[in-house]
Amino acid sequence: MTDTARQTLVQIAYLVASACFLLGLRGLTSPRTARRGMGLAAAGMVLAVIGTLLHHDIVSYQWIAIGIVVGAAVGAPMAIFMPMTAVPQRTAISHAFGALAVTLVGVAEYYLFTHRLGETGQMNEHVRMVAIGFEVFFGSLTITGSIMAFAKLQGLIPGKPMTYPFQNVANIALFLAGFAMFIYLIIDPTQSTVFYMMIGAAVLFGVLFVMPIGGADMPVVISLLNSYAGLAAAATGFAIDNTVLIVAGALDGASGFILSILMSKAMNRSFRNVLFGAFGSQPNAVSGAGAKEQRPVKSVTAEDAASVLAYSKSVIFVPGYGLAVAQAQHTVRELADLLKSRGISVKYAVHPVAGRMPGHMNVLLAEANVPYDELYDLDQINPEFEHTDVAVVVGANDVTNPAARTDNKSPIFGMPILNVDKAQAVIFMKRSMAAGFAGVDNELFYLDKTLMLFGDAKKSMQALVTEVKAI
Ligand code: TAP
Repeated sequence: MTDTARQTLVQIAYLVASACFLLGLRGLTSPRTARRGMGLAAAGMVLAVIGTLLHHDIVSYQWIAIGIVVGAAVGAPMAIFMPMTAVPQRTAISHAFGALAVTLVGVAEYYLFTHRLGETGQMNEHVRMVAIGFEVFFGSLTITGSIMAFAKLQGLIPGKPMTYPFQNVANIALFLAGFAMFIYLIIDPTQSTVFYMMIGAAVLFGVLFVMPIGGADMPVVISLLNSYAGLAAAATGFAIDNTVLIVAGALDGASGFILSILMSKAMNRSFRNVLFGAFGSQPNAVSGAGAKEQRPVKSVTAEDAASVLAYSKSVIFVPGYGLAVAQAQHTVRELADLLKSRGISVKYAVHPVAGRMPGHMNVLLAEANVPYDELYDLDQINPEFEHTDVAVVVGANDVTNPAARTDNKSPIFGMPILNVDKAQAVIFMKRSMAAGFAGVDNELFYLDKTLMLFGDAKKSMQALVTEVKAI
């Protein structure tokens, strides 16, 4: 094949791959089309890899083959065996590897670039340094930031915010120092000592920036680091003149940033508060949780709860993080089918930040083949609660807490919640009186209409299925 034909093929592959990425992202905007969207994005990635393998710059395939084998050996078991609840930390560690790749390419590019300075036909050296510097600066801080996020979520280091005086000021100063070195390098790209000092500053910043952020805020941080990794990859695209990398990196950078903002909004937290607020550092100090836990609640057996369900006309299931922990999605579906066969209307209320990652509940319910038309988002379902006989809360907590509407001292005040308290009766399935992620007590437990069904959500759900069948 001639060089020109090969280059044309590469560019066609890149063009189709870019279109697949765009359509894939569009597919992810609805649960109905999300699976197809993921398939398209994956196909786009395969095309981009094939296109890159045809590139005329490749002199030997040996190391590439070794890389593919090692990558597949590590990646395949991670994809197959990792439980859904561990996806946030799996995503974090993947970002660390992606950022490491970007940074290593950047360092190699810098090395080649400084050795070729002055050659004719090179991209303007200052412009090229903007791309390489950006790539390496954001790549380096993403490596350590993502490793820290992984370690917090995996419990390798304490998940709670680690704080010390003047932390935010010191972190911002370190970031600005690194950024100043980047600007200096644009002016004089030959200063390799400054280049490596900039990498050092960014690596350290990645660690220090994630340290004061609580483990449960990590999904927002991971999404932000995803955005940085995307921007770094786009810069790599400029540095090595690769169009598909520019497109994919820009899409990744923009969508990661938008997702971080949407998650913060759905938790009613400002982006600033997530990044600099050390949220969750005093979980026991909020809302006088200790004192409230002394109040009596109505604890019921599965048999009692089953008779309430069996004689109702309408039921809304409210899944939350506990559903994911218990892996109760299939049993919920089984109970829902049973209720439907008795002529009872069944709906599922999906809160945007229920669980620990965006779309967590959608993924679990889709896995259990819950029909999409039974899934309702916050705005659609809230007016329905007051006309509903029973709301069944399955391992959710914060997303149902009325304090978000009424207690302006509560850390979740202002967060949009599911109006479970408006239903005629509430069955609350959880293991204990423990608080959820925000560490606040839930008034809903103490309402007259609330029946607490204590136990692991899957076991309780199985008991409910058995009892409803017996009625
Ligand atoms: P949470 O408020 O965290 O409550 C989950 C409840 O599940 C806990 O109270 C826990 O009580 C119960 N639970 C745990 N394991 C269980 C099991 N095996 N069986 C039964 N119950 C179990 O969850 P939520 O209502 O889904 O709210 C999500 C929270 O995470 C929000 O505050 C949100 O802001 C935050 N957050 C979400 C995201 C995203 S993107 N989804 C990102 C960051 C933060 P017991 O221990 O008593 O069982």
